Amino acid sequence: MSNDSKTVVVTGIRATGRLHYGTFLGVMRDAVALSRDPEKSCFFFVANLHTLTTRPNPTGLLADQRGIVRGYLAAGIDPETSVIYAQSSVPETVVLSCLLSNLAPVGQLVGMPHYKEKKDALKVAGFGGDEESDEDSFGGNAGLLNYPILMAADILGVRADLVPVGQDQHPHVEFARRLARSFNRRYGNLFPVPDLLEGEAVRAPSLQGGGKMSKSDDRGVIYLDDRPEDIRTKFRVAVTDPQRQRRRDPGNPSVCNIFTYHHLVSSGEEIAWAQNGCTSASIGCAECKQVVSGHVVDMLAEFRERQAELDAKSPSYFDEILHEGGLRARARIKPVVEQAMELMGVPPF
Ligand code: TRP
Ligand code: SF4
Repeated sequence: MSNDSKTVVVTGIRATGRLHYGTFLGVMRDAVALSRDPEKSCFFFVANLHTLTTRPNPTGLLADQRGIVRGYLAAGIDPETSVIYAQSSVPETVVLSCLLSNLAPVGQLVGMPHYKEKKDALKVAGFGGDEESDEDSFGGNAGLLNYPILMAADILGVRADLVPVGQDQHPHVEFARRLARSFNRRYGNLFPVPDLLEGEAVRAPSLQGGGKMSKSDDRGVIYLDDRPEDIRTKFRVAVTDPQRQRRRDPGNPSVCNIFTYHHLVSSGEEIAWAQNGCTSASIGCAECKQVVSGHVVDMLAEFRERQAELDAKSPSYFDEILHEGGLRARARIKPVVEQAMELMGVPPF
């Protein structure tokens, strides 16, 4: 397969459970648009090895991996034109990760925001965790620490030019760019330095106040398989500016997550309407929320339709896509990894 005249795009999604709207806005929308561009050659995978860094229990993992494939398809990605595969189907990526680890500064790994956040979350969850491990000294598993190296291998292994990812993953792509440069400098020019697809800096906030949408509080999360009425209900009960106790109390949109949603899904006019209506108390939170939830429901209409069709498919349908995609991804990645081995002075496979 010769993709080299085209821009090579790669992205992955971890199998951490039901897909949510944050992933849709941050990754999937861009992925779909890129996949429809004939000048691009797209690789979309299920980051199942990365999933293991925070998922000690294999129960449900296979089903969730198929769920990601279903998500890619429901979003509108065509498995014929794009390569959809499982990270684990390409063992060469793991070899590349091992090679690249020799160029990866430990200080940078330890300093990654993702690592810092997750290791603390894992400690709270009691993961880390055989009886030998002392709670206080638990710094997360080494998989979590090495996460950015494996991610760099995912990216550099396909010789990607462009990586669409959510905002939280930007430091990891930056890390991959640095590894590409140091490899090229030390061993010879093998890897393109991949660009980050900035897109909109989307970070879908939780509907229960606080930070981004995360699965730790179900009520704050819009799942891609939520029914329209579920979505509307979640917005209806969502937390807003606490100053707006009564309809006549003016509010401050900048402390309200609903307003953040307006910026993600509404028109300029609607945003101005919400801003003015909120600060002057001329609109109520209920109407304000309805506008947003209406847009979210509409935006997911096609996704919902395709998903309903895919619900009729058996698990083997998704497994077959991963199998075929795995072969295609491997055909692309293996020779790249062999070149890296050769340049580093170890005999190729
Ligand atoms: N770390 C990404 C996430 O959690 C998933 C991922 C793994 C990825 N490898 C990648 C994304 C390579 C882009 C490219 O969302
Ligand atoms: Fe938030 Fe809108 Fe209510 Fe203002 S009117 S507090 S922006 S939901």
